[in-house]
Amino acid sequence: MDYWTAIESQPASTLKSLFDGETGRVERLSFEQSGVYFDFSKTHMSKMLLENFSKLADDKGMVDQIMALTNGAPINLSEGRAAEHTAERGFGSETSVENARLLKMRMQALVQAVDAGALGDIEYVIHLGIGGSALGPELLLAALKIGDEKYETAVISNIDGCALEPVLERFDAHKTLLVIASKSFTTAETFLNARSVTDWMAEQGVSDPFGKIIALTAMPEKAVEWGIDESRVLPFSETVGGRYSLWSSIGFSVALTLGIEVFDDLLAGAADMDRHFIDMPFDQNIPVIAAFCDQYYNQVRGCETRAVFAYDERLRLLPDYLQQLEMESNGKSVTADGTPLKRHSSPIVWGGVGTDAQHAVFQLLHQGTHLVPVEFLAVVEPGHSLAKEHHEGLLLNCFAQGAALMAGKKSDDTNRNYQGDRPSITILLENLDGRTLGALIAFYEHRTFTNAVLLGINPFDQFGVELGKEMANALLAGEGNKMDPSTEILKNRAFPA
Ligand code: F6P
Repeated sequence: MDYWTAIESQPASTLKSLFDGETGRVERLSFEQSGVYFDFSKTHMSKMLLENFSKLADDKGMVDQIMALTNGAPINLSEGRAAEHTAERGFGSETSVENARLLKMRMQALVQAVDAGALGDIEYVIHLGIGGSALGPELLLAALKIGDEKYETAVISNIDGCALEPVLERFDAHKTLLVIASKSFTTAETFLNARSVTDWMAEQGVSDPFGKIIALTAMPEKAVEWGIDESRVLPFSETVGGRYSLWSSIGFSVALTLGIEVFDDLLAGAADMDRHFIDMPFDQNIPVIAAFCDQYYNQVRGCETRAVFAYDERLRLLPDYLQQLEMESNGKSVTADGTPLKRHSSPIVWGGVGTDAQHAVFQLLHQGTHLVPVEFLAVVEPGHSLAKEHHEGLLLNCFAQGAALMAGKKSDDTNRNYQGDRPSITILLENLDGRTLGALIAFYEHRTFTNAVLLGINPFDQFGVELGKEMANALLAGEGNKMDPSTEILKNRAFPA
């Protein structure tokens, strides 16, 4: 039986008919885990669709795949290794879980040493990294910082000096710790920035800039070769993918800035979600249901994008983080066995913050010709102490948008007609803290994995980023004359002979 055909041949129900036809729909399609409430009721997920998607998941060996992921089996076939981010949270092979625990203790010891002044009087931290070595730490810092931290930490990723220079102007070189985060310890942007920071330290009279560096990497020998003392190298396992690495020593700057307890809470929240993902049947499994919705909209309703709006400034970096997680994982044209993918790969993930986005892009969401499944995130407890009208206004705007997208409003004036029947998922956190954020991020990881299994994709490699890097290197090496005429002219305009 082709389960995709069964899914595709389901008559399309409207959201209104789904709500009218089922009392208790919200209860059936909403779930709470570790202080995070997920409401899928405003999606088109009918009982029949859920049943057919569950059969498809069975057919794809979903349960075995989840076990393989969380037991440390070598599921990253193209690179011949496991994908062991869950081992950082206690779910993996015994050896990997123990290894992650030992490395975490080492990280904790270094946090304590810096706190105790072993590297001098530190007030500032520059965390250099890019992609997975920056997006996760930066998201966590923005989300969980409360303002009274001992260190001011800046995460810098871009090769553009406009990112680094203002930080160097603001920070005192003598009180700065440099953290270099790079799984491969070769990424060009990170090392150009690292050289600029060590040069700046030397120019400012820091006697031993290299003594103020901490390296976070899966290639510890390269860090030592680069000149960093082994005692300040925090390794993590090569089987932890870059975009899945915030749980590993890549989280050092987070643990240092926010405290090791916050980092532990984060891991505990993620472990809660791991347990849920492993244990729950498909019709109650939060990441699995989210992936069913993703596949429905992407494959059946032709939605090429999904929009994520955080109604909380503290979560403003979540869309950026999700772009890498989902698009680098599932933006592929072949399945895990190398044959062409016959379906759409990852949708384009985009988004912003509410309420700002309402006054910018929501026009298209309400009346445009593209159907865009929307995801709303909000937090019950405010992150500020201003008048309660701020938070009430924020949350009620969030809920009103989901309601308006679904209900629409008929008008004979076509300019003022709202079609409605536009789907959304709402995710409501009780509080924004380590535990809820850990559970939330692990939810997104497992949703991405479930989507990959449904499509047969390997979500753990990223060969697509290599060609651009190669060509940039060729240009930097002066091999521009091998480029196409358009690129040649651009280069000559920017760098006239
Ligand atoms: O170029 C893509 C990528 O390899 C990402 O997958 C990764 O997160 C990022 O670059 C940074 O890589 P690294 O941590 O090895 O510096």
